[in-house]
Amino acid sequence: MSAGFTLRAFRAEDLNRVMSINFECLPDNYSSSFYRELAGRFPDTFIVAEADGEIQGYVMCRVERGFSKLKSLTPAKLLHVVSIAVREAYRRRGIAKELMHEAMRKGANAYEASECYLEVRVGNEPAIKLYEGLGFTKAKRNYGYYLDGEDAWVMALLFKGKVI
Ligand code: ACO
Ligand code: ZN
Repeated sequence: MSAGFTLRAFRAEDLNRVMSINFECLPDNYSSSFYRELAGRFPDTFIVAEADGEIQGYVMCRVERGFSKLKSLTPAKLLHVVSIAVREAYRRRGIAKELMHEAMRKGANAYEASECYLEVRVGNEPAIKLYEGLGFTKAKRNYGYYLDGEDAWVMALLFKGKVI
């Protein structure tokens, strides 16, 4: 973990702050009940990063039973990273990388996920670089995935044999 920020589990009283960071950083927004549902069902993988005494970033996930995105026809428990963001002034200091590390560690250990996946806009180069740096690969392109018509890359990473 780098100096200058700390990670901790999301708490109910963090909701407004996390929602405002999501609004500020991403065009894809959610109702407060959606955040509460993820926090209630998957508390271990809803993580916030604090710096300068305030939350500056978050990651929230859902655990799903489905098929591996990387090994065809293989049933798997998947850690789905639903949303991650870090406020602009706090970027490029490793916060998102650590949020991802912690979410994947918890997803594997607390929820027995064997793989992580996410959707990312094909034009979102910073995020794609972040995920590639963590070892994710592009599994497929979802055409017109977003409400505004942009395509998504589905990116995935198998936990097996990885030190996370
Ligand atoms: N350009 C190129 N590479 C980048 C960039 C960038 N702008 N940002 C991060 N990276 C890569 C680099 O390899 C970086 O390592 P380095 O700084 O040593 O070169 C590595 O990712 C780790 O970067 P972090 O500092 O951990 O990332 P940061 O805390 O800045 O957050 C994030 C990255 C979350 C993508 C941030 O830019 C952000 O909040 N963007 C807006 C919201 C967003 O796009 N979220 C992801 C949407 S997809 C989803 O939620 C599943
Ligand atoms: Zn780490």
